[in-house]
Amino acid sequence: MRIVPHHIELTGRAARVIPGGVNSSNRRMPWPLAVVAAQGAYFTDADGQAYLDYHAAFGPLILGHNHPQVNAAVRAVTERLDIIGAGVTDIEVELAETIARHVPSAERVLLTNSGSEATYAALRLARAVTGRNTIIKFQGAYHGWHDAVAMNVITPAEKIGSKDPLSLGMLPEVIDHTLVLPFNDIEPVRETIEQRGHEIAAIMVEVIPHNIGCVLPRHEFLLGLRELCDQHEIVLIFDEVITGFRHALGGYQSLCGVTPDLSTFAKAIANGYPLAALVGRARFMDRFGPGGGVFFAGTYNGHPVGVAAALATIAALEDGSVHQHCFALAERAANGMLEIARELGIPMTVARFGSVFVPYFMEGPIERYEDLLVNDTARDLRFRRAMCEHGIFMLPVALKRNHVSAAHTEADIDRTLDTARAVLRGLKN
Ligand SMILES: Cc1ncc(COP(=O)(O)O)c(C=O)c1O
Repeated sequence: MRIVPHHIELTGRAARVIPGGVNSSNRRMPWPLAVVAAQGAYFTDADGQAYLDYHAAFGPLILGHNHPQVNAAVRAVTERLDIIGAGVTDIEVELAETIARHVPSAERVLLTNSGSEATYAALRLARAVTGRNTIIKFQGAYHGWHDAVAMNVITPAEKIGSKDPLSLGMLPEVIDHTLVLPFNDIEPVRETIEQRGHEIAAIMVEVIPHNIGCVLPRHEFLLGLRELCDQHEIVLIFDEVITGFRHALGGYQSLCGVTPDLSTFAKAIANGYPLAALVGRARFMDRFGPGGGVFFAGTYNGHPVGVAAALATIAALEDGSVHQHCFALAERAANGMLEIARELGIPMTVARFGSVFVPYFMEGPIERYEDLLVNDTARDLRFRRAMCEHGIFMLPVALKRNHVSAAHTEADIDRTLDTARAVLRGLKN
C-alpha cells in the first residue's frame, strides 16, 4: 500500500472542495502545505515538520503564535460575553479609548474585522465628506481586495503606468476612479492635483509599502502629501494595517510626525485575531454618526473575541520591550544576511524597518516599486524555497517581507543566518 503523506491528503481534499485549495488567493503555495499547529515562532505541518515562521500570516503575529496572554484574554471574555448586536460593550469602549490614547490621528475610532473593510469605509467617508469620487493610490501598495484599491501591486514592467487590476469582475467605473501614481515622488501627485484636484476625494498611502517588502518613505514625500491635501481639501488616509502597532503603538504616524486625516489599522493590533480599526479626525468620523449621512455597519464589528485580543496585545506592547526585542533581532538578521551576501559576492540589498526585513536580490537604492523591477526574481524564489526546505519559512513569493516576533530568539536568528549562508552558497550561480 502506498502511504500518502498527511499534508498531501489534506491539500488534495482541500483542492476538491475549496477553489484553489485555500481561503485567500494570497495563500496559494507552489507546493502542498497543510498546517495543523502553531506555537511561538513556529508552525507545524500535517506531517510534523516544524517551520520557523517569518511570514507571520502577512504580519499580525507581533507576539508570536498562540500567545498565552492573548489567548487567556479571549477565553476570559467568552466566559461572560458573546455578540450582542445592540448598543456597545464595555470592552469596545475600552479599546476605542486605548487606541485614541496611542494613535495621533485617532480622535474617533470605529472597529471592524479586516483591513479591507477599514480601507473601504475610509474611502466611502472621504467621498462623502468631499463630495468627490476619485482617489489616488500608489504603485506597489495593497489596501485590500475591494474594487477601488485592488490593483497595481506587483505589476509587470509592461503594465506600469496603466491599470493592473488584481481580478476580473471589478467594476470598470470604480477602477476608473482610482489614479495610480509612483510612490515617493511628490511632483506627479502635485501635477495630478493641480489638474484634477476638484475630483479627488482622497489620497490613500501605505506609509511604508510593505506589500513590496520594505520601501521607506521620504519624509518630504509624506509632508508634501499632507500639504497638498490641506491646500485642496483632499482627505489624507494612512493605511497602517501593517505598520500600526508593529512599528510603534501609535503607528508610523507617531514616528514620522505627519498626521493623516484618517488611518486604518489591523494585523498586529490583535496578534492574529480578526480586528481592524478606522480612526481619524472627529469632524470627518462623526459623519458616521446620527445625521452624518454615512453608513457604517457589520454584524461582527467589535466582536468581543477580536476586541479582547487587541486589548491584551496592546497591553503586552505598552512597556516597549517587545518592540525593542523584535527590532534588535531583525537588525541582527538583516545585517547578517547582507554580510553573507557580500562575502559570497551576491548582489543584495536588505531593507529593514523595525521588526520587518527583506532581502532583495539587487543593488539599491530602492525608493519605489519601479526600482524593484531589476530584482532577480528567480534567485529570490530559489532562496525562499530552499529556506523553506530547511524549515525556515520565508513566504515563497518574491519581494515578500519577513517579520520577527517576540517569540523569535537570538538562536533562531543565528540558525536562520547559518541556513541562509548554506543556501546562498548554493545559489551563487
Ligand atoms: C497595507 C494593507 N492594507 C489593507 C490590507 C487588507 O487587509 P485584510 O487582508 O485584513 O482585508 C492589507 C492586507 O494585507 C494590507 O497589507
